[in-house]
Amino acid sequence: MINVAFVCLGNICRSPMAEIIFRDMVEKEGLASGFVITSFGTSDYEEGNPIYPPAQKCLAAHGLNGKHTARCLSLPDVINNDYILVMDSENLFDVLRLTGGKFGEKIFKLCSFTTSPRDVADPWYTRDFERTYFDVVDGCKSFLNYLKKTIL
Ligand code: 4NP
Repeated sequence: MINVAFVCLGNICRSPMAEIIFRDMVEKEGLASGFVITSFGTSDYEEGNPIYPPAQKCLAAHGLNGKHTARCLSLPDVINNDYILVMDSENLFDVLRLTGGKFGEKIFKLCSFTTSPRDVADPWYTRDFERTYFDVVDGCKSFLNYLKKTIL
């Protein structure tokens, strides 16, 4: 079983989008039984809230749906997952602060697996959820290819 946790700041936009997109990808490839896929925020700002409606709308426009309730990342969540996939450099900094610098070997920026490593675009201020969707799909595809080449 491969445990994958996607992480952003609030856990209402980027990381739940990534959770739902990656779950759909592994389901379509017949690999779903090999994965536990979750998501978290580095903050508790949005704890208990559903996916942000514009993010939900963007997913629905691409034929994707999924329920999610925002939760805040804790140290046991890091310990219990094999891959912690963060959206941007600030998330990376915040997760490493939570772990006291430990577990760096399993904490990656999602788009570090792509041919153009970068942060996932943050839609909170730009309102450009399509760009976020594009980055997340690119990151998830590249991460799955990495798993296929290494451990799958
Ligand atoms: P997310 O988006 O980290 O992609 O879920 C945000 C959600 C909430 C806030 C910022 C970004 N906020 O400042 O409350």
